[in-house]
Amino acid sequence: MQVILVGLPGAGKGTQAERIKTEFGIPHISTGDMFRSAVASGSELGRQLKAFLDSGRLVPDETTIAVVRERLQQDDAKDGFLLDGFPRTLEQAHALDSMLSELDRPLDVVLYIHVDPSVLLARLTGRRICKSCGATYHTVFQPPKVEGVCDIDGGELYQRADDTPEAVSTRLEQFKQTAPLIDYYEQRGVLRRIDGEQSIDQVHRDVLSALAPFAR
Ligand code: AP5
Ligand code: MG
Repeated sequence: MQVILVGLPGAGKGTQAERIKTEFGIPHISTGDMFRSAVASGSELGRQLKAFLDSGRLVPDETTIAVVRERLQQDDAKDGFLLDGFPRTLEQAHALDSMLSELDRPLDVVLYIHVDPSVLLARLTGRRICKSCGATYHTVFQPPKVEGVCDIDGGELYQRADDTPEAVSTRLEQFKQTAPLIDYYEQRGVLRRIDGEQSIDQVHRDVLSALAPFAR
Protein backbone atom coordinates (compact mmCIF):
# COMPACT_ATOMS: atom_id res chain seq x y z
CA MET A 1 0.00 0.00 0.00
CA GLN A 2 1.40 3.39 -1.03
CA VAL A 3 -0.22 6.26 0.86
CA ILE A 4 0.39 10.01 1.08
CA LEU A 5 -0.84 12.21 3.94
CA VAL A 6 -1.37 15.89 3.10
CA GLY A 7 -2.56 18.63 5.41
CA LEU A 8 -1.73 21.94 7.03
CA PRO A 9 0.85 22.01 9.84
CA GLY A 10 -0.91 20.54 12.88
CA ALA A 11 -3.69 18.87 10.86
CA GLY A 12 -2.81 15.55 12.54
CA LYS A 13 -0.66 13.84 9.88
CA GLY A 14 1.95 12.52 12.30
CA THR A 15 -0.64 11.49 14.90
CA GLN A 16 -2.59 9.44 12.37
CA ALA A 17 0.54 8.11 10.64
CA GLU A 18 1.79 6.53 13.87
CA ARG A 19 -1.45 4.54 14.13
CA ILE A 20 -1.57 3.55 10.45
CA LYS A 21 2.03 2.35 10.64
CA THR A 22 1.23 0.04 13.53
CA GLU A 23 -1.96 -1.33 12.01
CA PHE A 24 -0.75 -1.85 8.44
CA GLY A 25 2.91 -2.65 9.14
CA ILE A 26 4.26 -0.10 6.66
CA PRO A 27 6.99 2.44 7.44
CA HIS A 28 6.03 5.99 8.33
CA ILE A 29 8.26 8.21 6.21
CA SER A 30 8.10 11.80 7.44
CA THR A 31 10.43 14.24 5.72
CA GLY A 32 10.01 16.60 8.70
CA ASP A 33 11.16 13.85 11.13
CA MET A 34 14.08 12.93 8.86
CA PHE A 35 15.18 16.57 8.61
CA ARG A 36 14.87 17.09 12.40
CA SER A 37 17.03 13.99 13.00
CA ALA A 38 19.64 15.38 10.60
CA VAL A 39 19.67 18.70 12.50
CA ALA A 40 19.90 16.91 15.87
CA SER A 41 22.82 14.75 14.65
CA GLY A 42 24.82 17.85 13.71
CA SER A 43 25.63 16.38 10.27
CA GLU A 44 26.59 18.59 7.33
CA LEU A 45 23.06 18.14 5.90
CA GLY A 46 21.60 19.06 9.30
CA ARG A 47 23.65 22.27 9.44
CA GLN A 48 22.31 23.28 6.02
CA LEU A 49 18.72 22.54 7.02
CA LYS A 50 18.51 24.10 10.47
CA ALA A 51 17.60 27.62 9.34
CA PHE A 52 14.83 26.33 7.07
CA LEU A 53 13.30 24.18 9.79
CA ASP A 54 13.52 26.70 12.61
CA SER A 55 11.92 29.45 10.53
CA GLY A 56 9.26 27.22 8.93
CA ARG A 57 10.39 27.70 5.32
CA LEU A 58 10.36 24.74 2.93
CA VAL A 59 13.66 22.96 2.35
CA PRO A 60 14.69 23.23 -1.35
CA ASP A 61 13.11 20.61 -3.62
CA GLU A 62 16.41 19.18 -4.82
CA THR A 63 17.52 18.25 -1.29
CA THR A 64 14.11 16.95 -0.26
CA ILE A 65 13.70 14.79 -3.37
CA ALA A 66 17.17 13.27 -2.94
CA VAL A 67 16.45 12.33 0.68
CA VAL A 68 13.12 10.65 -0.20
CA ARG A 69 14.57 8.85 -3.22
CA GLU A 70 17.19 7.24 -1.01
CA ARG A 71 14.68 6.38 1.71
CA LEU A 72 12.23 4.66 -0.67
CA GLN A 73 14.99 2.34 -1.82
CA GLN A 74 15.48 0.89 1.65
CA ASP A 75 14.33 -2.65 2.35
CA ASP A 76 11.49 -1.82 4.73
CA ALA A 77 9.73 0.21 2.00
CA LYS A 78 9.51 -2.73 -0.39
CA ASP A 79 5.96 -3.65 0.63
CA GLY A 80 4.58 -0.15 0.80
CA PHE A 81 4.96 3.08 2.72
CA LEU A 82 3.19 6.02 4.20
CA LEU A 83 4.54 9.41 3.17
CA ASP A 84 3.88 12.21 5.68
CA GLY A 85 4.72 15.74 4.54
CA PHE A 86 6.02 14.73 1.10
CA PRO A 87 5.34 15.80 -1.59
CA ARG A 88 4.76 19.43 -0.72
CA THR A 89 5.30 21.13 -4.08
CA LEU A 90 4.32 20.18 -7.62
CA GLU A 91 7.97 19.60 -8.44
CA GLN A 92 8.17 17.07 -5.59
CA ALA A 93 4.92 15.42 -6.79
CA HIS A 94 6.36 14.98 -10.29
CA ALA A 95 9.58 13.55 -8.84
CA LEU A 96 7.54 11.10 -6.75
CA ASP A 97 5.66 10.00 -9.87
CA SER A 98 9.00 9.09 -11.47
CA MET A 99 10.22 7.28 -8.34
CA LEU A 100 7.02 5.22 -8.13
CA SER A 101 7.22 4.28 -11.76
CA GLU A 102 10.89 3.25 -11.35
CA LEU A 103 9.87 1.14 -8.34
CA ASP A 104 6.90 -0.18 -10.31
CA ARG A 105 4.48 0.67 -7.50
CA PRO A 106 1.20 2.54 -7.92
CA LEU A 107 0.09 5.38 -5.70
CA ASP A 108 -3.02 4.03 -3.96
CA VAL A 109 -4.46 6.98 -2.11
CA VAL A 110 -3.77 10.53 -0.92
CA LEU A 111 -5.49 11.38 2.37
CA TYR A 112 -6.07 15.10 2.71
CA ILE A 113 -6.69 15.79 6.41
CA HIS A 114 -8.36 19.18 6.34
CA VAL A 115 -8.86 21.59 9.22
CA ASP A 116 -9.62 25.26 9.50
CA PRO A 117 -6.38 27.25 10.05
CA SER A 118 -7.98 28.85 13.15
CA VAL A 119 -7.58 25.62 15.18
CA LEU A 120 -3.91 25.11 14.39
CA LEU A 121 -2.09 27.58 16.61
CA ALA A 122 -3.59 25.96 19.73
CA ARG A 123 -2.68 22.50 18.45
CA LEU A 124 0.91 23.37 17.61
CA THR A 125 1.81 25.48 20.64
CA GLY A 126 0.40 22.72 22.91
CA ARG A 127 2.22 19.88 21.14
CA ARG A 128 4.87 17.96 23.10
CA ILE A 129 7.11 15.20 21.71
CA CYS A 130 9.08 12.46 23.46
CA LYS A 131 12.84 12.98 23.14
CA SER A 132 13.57 9.27 23.00
CA CYS A 133 10.70 7.62 21.06
CA GLY A 134 9.14 10.57 19.19
CA ALA A 135 5.58 9.95 20.47
CA THR A 136 3.35 13.02 20.11
CA TYR A 137 1.19 14.50 22.87
CA HIS A 138 -0.83 17.63 23.44
CA THR A 139 -1.08 19.45 26.76
CA VAL A 140 -4.90 19.61 26.43
CA PHE A 141 -6.09 17.32 23.59
CA GLN A 142 -3.81 14.32 24.22
CA PRO A 143 -2.07 14.81 27.58
CA PRO A 144 0.43 12.30 28.96
CA LYS A 145 -0.48 10.64 32.28
CA VAL A 146 2.32 12.56 34.02
CA GLU A 147 3.08 16.08 32.79
CA GLY A 148 6.29 16.28 30.76
CA VAL A 149 6.86 12.50 30.76
CA CYS A 150 6.20 10.02 27.91
CA ASP A 151 3.61 7.31 28.74
CA ILE A 152 5.44 4.79 26.55
CA ASP A 153 9.04 4.93 27.73
CA GLY A 154 9.24 7.62 30.41
CA GLY A 155 11.23 9.92 28.08
CA GLU A 156 11.30 13.68 28.56
CA LEU A 157 8.80 15.65 26.45
CA TYR A 158 9.99 18.70 24.47
CA GLN A 159 8.55 21.37 22.20
CA ARG A 160 9.54 21.62 18.53
CA ALA A 161 11.62 24.69 17.62
CA ASP A 162 9.12 25.57 14.86
CA ASP A 163 6.06 25.48 17.13
CA THR A 164 6.39 29.18 17.99
CA PRO A 165 3.66 31.58 16.77
CA GLU A 166 6.14 33.18 14.29
CA ALA A 167 7.27 29.91 12.69
CA VAL A 168 3.69 28.57 12.64
CA SER A 169 2.61 31.65 10.70
CA THR A 170 5.41 31.09 8.15
CA ARG A 171 4.49 27.39 7.85
CA LEU A 172 0.85 28.25 7.16
CA GLU A 173 1.97 30.75 4.51
CA GLN A 174 4.22 28.09 2.91
CA PHE A 175 1.21 25.80 2.48
CA LYS A 176 0.34 27.90 -0.61
CA GLN A 177 2.99 25.83 -2.38
CA THR A 178 1.27 22.59 -1.31
CA ALA A 179 -2.34 23.59 -2.06
CA PRO A 180 -2.05 22.87 -5.85
CA LEU A 181 -1.39 19.20 -4.98
CA ILE A 182 -4.99 18.84 -3.81
CA ASP A 183 -6.24 19.49 -7.38
CA TYR A 184 -3.40 17.49 -8.87
CA TYR A 185 -4.37 14.32 -6.99
CA GLU A 186 -8.11 14.99 -7.16
CA GLN A 187 -7.93 15.04 -10.95
CA ARG A 188 -6.20 11.67 -10.84
CA GLY A 189 -9.03 10.29 -8.72
CA VAL A 190 -6.80 9.28 -5.77
CA LEU A 191 -7.68 12.04 -3.27
CA ARG A 192 -9.82 11.29 -0.19
CA ARG A 193 -10.82 14.11 2.16
CA ILE A 194 -10.80 13.46 5.89
CA ASP A 195 -12.37 15.89 8.37
CA GLY A 196 -9.45 16.60 10.72
CA GLU A 197 -11.45 18.68 13.20
CA GLN A 198 -13.06 15.66 14.84
CA SER A 199 -11.57 13.83 17.81
CA ILE A 200 -8.29 11.97 17.18
CA ASP A 201 -10.16 8.63 17.47
CA GLN A 202 -12.89 9.65 15.00
CA VAL A 203 -10.31 10.92 12.49
CA HIS A 204 -8.59 7.57 12.86
CA ARG A 205 -11.82 5.67 12.13
CA ASP A 206 -12.34 7.74 8.96
CA VAL A 207 -8.72 7.13 7.92
CA LEU A 208 -9.21 3.38 8.36
CA SER A 209 -12.35 3.42 6.18
CA ALA A 210 -10.51 5.35 3.47
CA LEU A 211 -7.62 2.86 3.54
CA ALA A 212 -9.72 -0.32 3.73
CA PRO A 213 -9.99 -0.83 -0.07
CA PHE A 214 -6.18 -0.88 -0.36
CA ALA A 215 -5.31 -3.14 2.57
CA ARG A 216 -3.97 -6.56 1.67
P1 AP5 B 1 6.71 18.62 9.23
O1 AP5 B 1 7.38 17.95 10.35
O2 AP5 B 1 6.11 17.81 8.15
O3 AP5 B 1 5.66 19.63 9.83
P2 AP5 B 1 4.24 20.12 9.34
O4 AP5 B 1 3.73 19.78 8.01
O5 AP5 B 1 4.29 21.58 9.65
O6 AP5 B 1 3.26 19.33 10.19
P3 AP5 B 1 3.32 19.02 11.70
O7 AP5 B 1 4.24 17.89 11.96
O8 AP5 B 1 3.54 20.28 12.48
O9 AP5 B 1 1.79 18.64 11.95
P4 AP5 B 1 1.06 17.25 11.84
O10 AP5 B 1 0.01 17.36 10.81
O11 AP5 B 1 2.00 16.10 11.78
O12 AP5 B 1 0.32 17.29 13.27
P5 AP5 B 1 0.46 16.33 14.55
O13 AP5 B 1 -0.11 15.01 14.23
O14 AP5 B 1 1.82 16.39 15.14
O15 AP5 B 1 7.75 19.63 8.52
C1 AP5 B 1 8.55 20.47 9.32
C2 AP5 B 1 9.47 21.29 8.44
O16 AP5 B 1 10.34 20.42 7.70
C3 AP5 B 1 8.79 22.16 7.36
O17 AP5 B 1 8.35 23.40 7.90
C4 AP5 B 1 9.91 22.31 6.35
O18 AP5 B 1 10.87 23.25 6.80
C5 AP5 B 1 10.55 20.93 6.37
N1 AP5 B 1 9.94 19.99 5.43
C6 AP5 B 1 9.29 18.82 5.73
N2 AP5 B 1 8.88 18.19 4.62
C7 AP5 B 1 9.24 18.97 3.57
C8 AP5 B 1 9.08 18.87 2.17
N3 AP5 B 1 8.43 17.84 1.61
N4 AP5 B 1 9.59 19.87 1.39
C9 AP5 B 1 10.25 20.92 1.93
N5 AP5 B 1 10.43 21.09 3.27
C10 AP5 B 1 9.93 20.11 4.08
O19 AP5 B 1 -0.58 17.09 15.52
C11 AP5 B 1 -0.29 18.39 16.03
C12 AP5 B 1 -0.82 18.50 17.48
O20 AP5 B 1 -2.24 18.43 17.47
C13 AP5 B 1 -0.33 17.37 18.39
O21 AP5 B 1 -0.07 17.89 19.67
C14 AP5 B 1 -1.51 16.38 18.44
O22 AP5 B 1 -1.59 15.72 19.69
C15 AP5 B 1 -2.71 17.31 18.25
N6 AP5 B 1 -3.78 16.70 17.45
C16 AP5 B 1 -3.66 15.89 16.36
N7 AP5 B 1 -4.89 15.55 15.88
C17 AP5 B 1 -5.79 16.17 16.69
C18 AP5 B 1 -7.22 16.20 16.72
N8 AP5 B 1 -7.96 15.52 15.82
N9 AP5 B 1 -7.82 16.94 17.69
C19 AP5 B 1 -7.09 17.62 18.60
N10 AP5 B 1 -5.72 17.62 18.63
C20 AP5 B 1 -5.09 16.91 17.69
MG1 MG C 1 4.08 15.90 11.72
